[in-house]
Amino acid sequence: MPNDSSPSRQFPPLPQFSGMNAPSRIECHIQDLEVVGELPQALQGSWYRCGPDPQYPPMLGDDIYINGDGAVSAFRFADGRVDFTMRYVRTQRFEAERAAHRSLFGLYRNPYTDHASVRGLDRGTANTTAFVHAGRLFALKEDSLPYELDPVTLETKGRHDFDGKLRSRTVTAHPKRDPETDEWLFFGYEAAGDASKDVAFCVADKHGALVREEWFEAPYAAMQHDFAVTRDYVIFSVFPTVCDLDRMKAGGTHWMWDGALDTWIGVMRRDGSAKDMRWFRRPACYSYHVANAFNTGSQITVDLCVSARNVFPYVPARDGSAHDPEANAPYLTRWCFDADNPESSFNSRVLSPIPGELPRIDERVSMQPHRFIYYGGIDPRKSQLVTGPIGLGSNHLVRVDTQTGGVTSLFLSDTTTFQEPQLVPVPGAEGLLLAVVDHHDTGLASVVVLNAADITAGPIAQIKLPIRLRDSFHGDWAPSTPQTI
Ligand SMILES: [Fe+2]
Repeated sequence: MPNDSSPSRQFPPLPQFSGMNAPSRIECHIQDLEVVGELPQALQGSWYRCGPDPQYPPMLGDDIYINGDGAVSAFRFADGRVDFTMRYVRTQRFEAERAAHRSLFGLYRNPYTDHASVRGLDRGTANTTAFVHAGRLFALKEDSLPYELDPVTLETKGRHDFDGKLRSRTVTAHPKRDPETDEWLFFGYEAAGDASKDVAFCVADKHGALVREEWFEAPYAAMQHDFAVTRDYVIFSVFPTVCDLDRMKAGGTHWMWDGALDTWIGVMRRDGSAKDMRWFRRPACYSYHVANAFNTGSQITVDLCVSARNVFPYVPARDGSAHDPEANAPYLTRWCFDADNPESSFNSRVLSPIPGELPRIDERVSMQPHRFIYYGGIDPRKSQLVTGPIGLGSNHLVRVDTQTGGVTSLFLSDTTTFQEPQLVPVPGAEGLLLAVVDHHDTGLASVVVLNAADITAGPIAQIKLPIRLRDSFHGDWAPSTPQTI
């Protein structure tokens, strides 16, 4: 049996380490990828992505998908050509394990299960989001500080604490970039340490300088994966995936689903203060990702993926109930409420009949009314291919027209799944939609380039990779600049 003194050198034969989920452990630069068709001239820039790829087999014999070391990749588009680069983020954790030639960290977000030699080291994996701000590239993970990378080489520059100014120990992997001010709005939860109820709301200006950090207390310590920002409001959601320090000290999981607790939604004005946060309560539910939010006066709209409970199968329920993928499937949902009277005005309606996750919009209209949402649809009646953290991969790309209610989707084959889509803005058009395709028959990856306005027409062009790309989480598009390409 593996143990913390001599972990196995083989990844366990479990779904999260097998098939398309098998760790790739590849760092590479590939110039001029093969392209089927022609890349549109409008594709000029870098598409950065970030996801988990464990460097070593788990110390405790098993682990969850989302605990892998951060691997950042970049597709660089220029003049009809595309290059690809992928590198690990050199976190403290990565470097310690590489020096020891083995894994040293235990359960996800539980430092009490680590090897004694790494106590006090940063446990962050930098594995969730690649984000460009003020010409700088960051890899983000919600339990720790960002790591800054060189936007061209993807070499790690180091941990980023905003010149020593940030007090929060954590920074969300769902930053909001204000398209009008170029500010980076973010928050950190468990900001004072594991299981703390402290949340820090922060703003960095267009140059990257930290200009605001306000702390408040959440109703209880919970996983706050994403948040919502409009032109005038910030909305924090506290869903009952809860943390308990005693459980962690006993060697248990950081997270547990507690459906007996309410969901709490906090609303504050951007020109106000966290002290004026207005909290209202809803029955237990869960959401990982927000597509966008906007307000008209005090009327707030939030489009987000909502499930009956946490969609991750490895978050155990306090009442012992089993995870039911169908009953807990996430649906793209529109919440509307009046910030002045949220409890009585709250309205929720589902926007698409196809369950799924990883919603994206044209970020030029972030925080303002948007029309289109693109996401990965999971229809288990079509195919049941395992990839990524939820279990089943996205076998559809879905486009929702929130103005007409129209839903269209692209299904490529019984052996393909999609990773998170990326909308590339094109002046005067809806844009281009990019998505990595996992080819489960060949074990390789490709990228489809789609006309966002007509995804059912299929790819304009398809970029072929000679390797598999383990399912990433989130990415960011950076138009060509001297800093990024
Ligand atoms: Fe996320």
